[in-house]
Amino acid sequence: MPGKQRRTGWGVLLLSLLPLFAQAEKNTPWQNYVLRCSGCHDMDGSGSVAGGIPPLPGFLGTFTNDPAGRLYLMHVPGIVASSLDNAQLAELMNFLNEKWGDPQGYPAFTPQEVKTLRDTPVADVVKYRRQLVKRYLKEGMKTADYPWP
Ligand code: HEC
Repeated sequence: MPGKQRRTGWGVLLLSLLPLFAQAEKNTPWQNYVLRCSGCHDMDGSGSVAGGIPPLPGFLGTFTNDPAGRLYLMHVPGIVASSLDNAQLAELMNFLNEKWGDPQGYPAFTPQEVKTLRDTPVADVVKYRRQLVKRYLKEGMKTADYPWP
C-alpha cells in the first residue's frame, strides 16, 4: 500500500526531527537555519517576492560590513523572534555570512557583540533599514530591493 508507506515515511521524518527541537542548544548553525529561518527564507536563502521576503545571497554582506547594518540585522523580526542565545546567533550569522555574505569583510560576530547590539534599541526597524539602504545605494552597495524600497 503506497499510501500507508508514505504516511509512515512522514512519521519517521517527524520523529527524526524531534531531537532537533528538543536540543536547540546543540544544533549546528545550519540546523538552526533550517528550523528557524528556512520556512520563510527558503533553503537557498532566496526568499519570496510574493511573500515580501528579501533574498539573502549576495546582499547579506552589505549589512555585515557596516556597523549600522550589523545593528539592523540584530533587530530584524525573524532574528529577534528566533529565541537563539547570543552565542548561537553569532554562530548562525557567521555561518550565513560565509555562505551568502562577505566572509572576507568585517570580523566575525562574537557573542559579546551580539549582546551589545541586541541591547542597543532600534525604535523603528523599517525606518532604520530605509535610511541604511539610502546610504548604501549612494555608496554603490547592493541591497535587496524588497519588501521596502
Ligand atoms: C516568519 C517569516 C520569517 C522568519 C521565520 C525569518 N525571517 Fe528573516 N525576514 C522575513 C521578512 C518578511 C523580512 C523582511 C523584513 C521584515 O518584514 O521583517 C526578513 C528580513 C531578514 C533579513 C534582512 C534582509 C534585508 O534585506 O533587509 C535578514 C538578514 C533575515 N531576515 C534573516 C533571518 C534569519 C537569520 C532568520 C532565522 C533566525 C529569519 N530571518 C527568520 C521573514 C522571516
